[in-house]
Amino acid sequence: MSESRRLYEEAQRVLVGGVDSPVRAAIKPYPFFVREGKGPYLFTVDGNRLIDYVLGYGPLILGHAPESVARRVMDYVGKGWLYGAPTEVEVLLAKKIVNHFPSIKRVRFVNSGGEAVLTAIRLARGYTKRRKILKFEGCYHGAVDYVLVKAGSAAAHFGAPSSAGVPEDVAKLTLVARYNDLDSVERIMRGEGNDVAAIIAEPIMANYGIIPPREGFLKGLREIADRYGTLLILDEVVTGYRLGLGGAQRYYGVNADITTLGKIIGGGFPVGAVGARDEVMDLLSPKGPVFNAGTFNGHPISMIAGLATIEVLETTNAYDTAINASRKLAEGINDVLGRLGIEHVVNWAPTMLQVFFTGGEVIDHETANKSDTKLYLRFHDELLRRGVFIAPSQFEAIFTSSSHSTEVVEETLRQIEDSARVIKYH
Ligand SMILES: Cc1ncc(COP(=O)(O)O)c(C=O)c1O
Repeated sequence: MSESRRLYEEAQRVLVGGVDSPVRAAIKPYPFFVREGKGPYLFTVDGNRLIDYVLGYGPLILGHAPESVARRVMDYVGKGWLYGAPTEVEVLLAKKIVNHFPSIKRVRFVNSGGEAVLTAIRLARGYTKRRKILKFEGCYHGAVDYVLVKAGSAAAHFGAPSSAGVPEDVAKLTLVARYNDLDSVERIMRGEGNDVAAIIAEPIMANYGIIPPREGFLKGLREIADRYGTLLILDEVVTGYRLGLGGAQRYYGVNADITTLGKIIGGGFPVGAVGARDEVMDLLSPKGPVFNAGTFNGHPISMIAGLATIEVLETTNAYDTAINASRKLAEGINDVLGRLGIEHVVNWAPTMLQVFFTGGEVIDHETANKSDTKLYLRFHDELLRRGVFIAPSQFEAIFTSSSHSTEVVEETLRQIEDSARVIKYH
C-alpha cells in the first residue's frame, strides 16, 4: 500500500473526508500527501516529483519555498511571532498595498480571503445602510454565508451551488446576476438598486476555470454602481499581485470602492486584507462602528512573508517569467489539442489559465457548464500519472510562478502531448 493511501485511511478517521478543504479530496481514488515543495516541484510521501500548477491554489507566485522569503521568515521567527500589539511589518506591508492600489488608502489585515470578504460586505452595509448585495453566478468569494449562493470553486465541483446551513433569510439578501452580462445587472438594479449595498465581483472569474471579463464589463459595473450609490467590491484575493503589482484594477483600469486581497499578500501564509478609501475604511473599529477584530490579524509571519514576496515581485523579472510560462502553456495546450482534433477552449490571463473541453467560447457559468468535465478529470489523471499536477477540478485554475522556467514548461508540454493522446485514443 502506498504511503499516501495509508495516510488517507488514517486521515479519514479523524478529519472530515480525510481533508481540511473539500477540493483536496477530489483526487481519486485518494489524494497524494506532500512531503515538501521546492521551486516548481512538489515531492510526495510516495517518492514522486510533481510539477505543480496548483501552487496552493494561487498564493505561491514565486514557487515553493523561495530562498528570499524563507530566509526572512526564519530570521523573524527567532524573535517570537505573536504579541497582541502592533508590529512594523504590518505597516510596511500596508504601505506597499496603498502604494500599488490607487483605490486603497487604508488597509485592515485579517486571516483569510473569506474573512476579508465578510468584512468588506459588513463595511459596505455599514457605509450605505442598505441590506442586499449583488454577486455573480459562478464567482466564489470564500466560505461565507452571504456569498455561498450559486458559487464556484469546490461549491460547484461538488454540486452544491449553495450550502446547507445558510438560512434562507440570509440567502434572500444576495441577488445573483450573470457574469459578463451587464443587462442582467441592470435588470436587478432597476428593481432593487436602492437597497443594494454592494456589487461584489471577481474581476477575473478564477473559480469556474478562468473566465476573463469582456471588454467594458468591469467599467460597466463601476458605472452602474455609481448610478445607484452602491459600492463596488472587487474581490482580488486571486488577482491581487497575480496580474501585476496593481492587480486587476491596474490591469483593466477600473477602481473598486472596496478591495479584498489574500493569497499572494501572505506569501503562502494565512492572510486576507480589506482596503478602501479612508472615508469607507474609517468606519471600521476602532475608529468607527463597523466591527472587525482578530487574534491573528496582521500576523507578523504572514506579513513578513508577504512583504518579502512583494519585494521580489517589485525588483526582479519574476512576473515576466511567470507570465511567459502561462502564455507558453496556453499556446502549447491549444496546439496539442488542436492537432489531435480535441474540441477545446483555453482561457488565459497573466499567470493563470484553464482548458475547457467544449466547442464554444466560455464566458460565464452557463457556457463553462457545457464543457466536458469528465474529460477534464481524465486529462488531470493522465497528467498526474506523468508527474504534472493541475487542479483536480474544472472549476479551478492552472497557475504559474516565477519558478516555472522554460525547461519546466517544455517538460510539461511533452507530458501534455502524451496525456492528450491517451484521452483521444484510449
Ligand atoms: C476570489 C476569491 N475570493 C475569496 C476566496 C477565499 O479565500 P480564503 O480561502 O483564503 O478564505 C477565494 C479562495 O479561493 C477566492 O478565490
